[in-house]
Amino acid sequence: MRLAILSDTHGNAVAFEAVVQDLRRQSPDAVVFLGDLAMRGPQPAECADLLRSLNPLVAVKGNHDHYFALYPDASAWVPRNAKEEMNRRQLQYNQQLLSGGEQRWIGHWPSEHMLRAEGIQAELYHASPASLATIIWPWAANDELDALGKDASTQLVLYGHIHHAFMRNAGGRLIVNSGSVGLPFDGDNRASYAIIDVEGRDIAVQIRRIAYDIERVIRIAKDRRMPDTERFEEAVRRAVFTYNVAATKAV
Ligand SMILES: [Fe+2]
Repeated sequence: MRLAILSDTHGNAVAFEAVVQDLRRQSPDAVVFLGDLAMRGPQPAECADLLRSLNPLVAVKGNHDHYFALYPDASAWVPRNAKEEMNRRQLQYNQQLLSGGEQRWIGHWPSEHMLRAEGIQAELYHASPASLATIIWPWAANDELDALGKDASTQLVLYGHIHHAFMRNAGGRLIVNSGSVGLPFDGDNRASYAIIDVEGRDIAVQIRRIAYDIERVIRIAKDRRMPDTERFEEAVRRAVFTYNVAATKAV
């Protein structure tokens, strides 16, 4: 069985489209999505269309997807600091472009999923079993990586959130992070996703990096007057995290 693992598209449909083209050539049996469809990029509706076109086996909820369930109307959100103020600006932008039905669809995704593929069991999370926003880096201690799996009979754990692609063995399980389609932070500005082949109990992982037209998605963000475009522009060009807003009181 061949699985395609996609995560963290973040409203970058130019990158997502390039990944879909590559993915179709890989002919996966199933596609899974690990969350953060929208927010931070200019094209949330196009990303929703692309995800639906892939008919995913499951989409799990990310921390940014969670906002759609929490705040059906962004103006009801009273931000406590500058970072929340930025996230509210982005939610307002996204709510103008996504339908109410799309926001409910995103808000209702499960926060975890257990998958059986051939002879193995896989656990799927956006960030970790503990929360939608826990950060577990590729270089984490083995104990931290062990905490990514809940069930003793799990052989494969898939997660997103950190926007760094990697794979590593820990506690007898293979841990795979497919990286980010729309907003990598691992220094490689090509879109990232994973193809996983399972045959019996054998697992083979490919992390695929797909070049796309970065200037085009930046132009779209500017044309649409997306809030915080300068942060997005630097992030997609350099593949670094640019959203470190000091958590000071918003004015
Ligand atoms: Fe994300």
